[in-house]
Amino acid sequence: MTDIEIQAVDDTARWVAHQRAQESARPDALFNDHLAERLAGARGREIAAMAAAAPAAADGDGWYLTTRTVLLDRVVTASVADGFDTVINLGAGLDARPYRLELPADLTWVEVDLPELIGEKEALLAHERPRCRLRRVPLDLGRDELTTTLHDASRGRTLVLAEGLIMYLSPGEVDALSADLVNAGITRWSFDLSTAGVGTLVAERNRTLLASAPWRFLPADGVAYFEKRGWAVERIEPIFPAAVALGRLDTPEARRAAAGPQPDPRAPGDIPYSAVVTVTPDR
Ligand SMILES: C[S@@+](CC[C@H](N)C(=O)[O-])C[C@H]1O[C@@H](n2cnc3c(N)ncnc32)[C@H](O)[C@@H]1O
Repeated sequence: MTDIEIQAVDDTARWVAHQRAQESARPDALFNDHLAERLAGARGREIAAMAAAAPAAADGDGWYLTTRTVLLDRVVTASVADGFDTVINLGAGLDARPYRLELPADLTWVEVDLPELIGEKEALLAHERPRCRLRRVPLDLGRDELTTTLHDASRGRTLVLAEGLIMYLSPGEVDALSADLVNAGITRWSFDLSTAGVGTLVAERNRTLLASAPWRFLPADGVAYFEKRGWAVERIEPIFPAAVALGRLDTPEARRAAAGPQPDPRAPGDIPYSAVVTVTPDR
């Protein structure tokens, strides 16, 4: 491993936080994450610079990361308006939504991530006040039991978020997570999903930049993967056209492609396809 590699999966959280800081600094920012720069730190800046120089970074990563954050912000806001009382953010990383979104003070927000990352985040935010009830749970989703956390947290209407998480899990780990969420009776699960065609784009990165945190879950059947595991789709929002609509991808080719037919989210074939997907248990 060289020092220009991501050293562990939690480094990816610093990278994404750096991107939120970049977006927040724009005059036309789509969100204002005032804590992102502190949370990303110097390491976040370094990783983002390596990522920009790495293969498969055509047009950069910013459009993708900003767009998925905006789309998931909308899911949170809509769920709060729908009367949800709990949000569980899996692989929460250095996300600061409890500090930056308009949230009811009595909303319960639970953040789950690896113990080291949770410890670092607690220290960095020790003097900040979240806008709702916030709790953090250190655990490894690939190894540890999530059921107690789900049981404790989800007595009412619960939204589970997984932003930038499931691609880092193995298919077996995604299956186990999916089963836990169905069995816990959560109300809504929203996550970004990349499918098999993205595998070609990330193959080189998986060997280099992401060697310690490769993207492992890229299902060929896209959204159908979840429909086969007890979920019904509430909403599918492809990230590429949303990035064009939000003005974060702004080339003639991108505008043309976004205006054309989009891949089938259940059979995207070799086309690189990513979407923010919101599902509910299919009962
Ligand atoms: C790309 S970051 C995204 C972080 C955050 N959701 C965001 O959008 O800013 C991926 C996150 O997933 C976490 N993660 C990856 N594998 C995990 C696991 N097995 N258990 C718990 N967290 C995990 C990492 O520590 C990291 O914080």
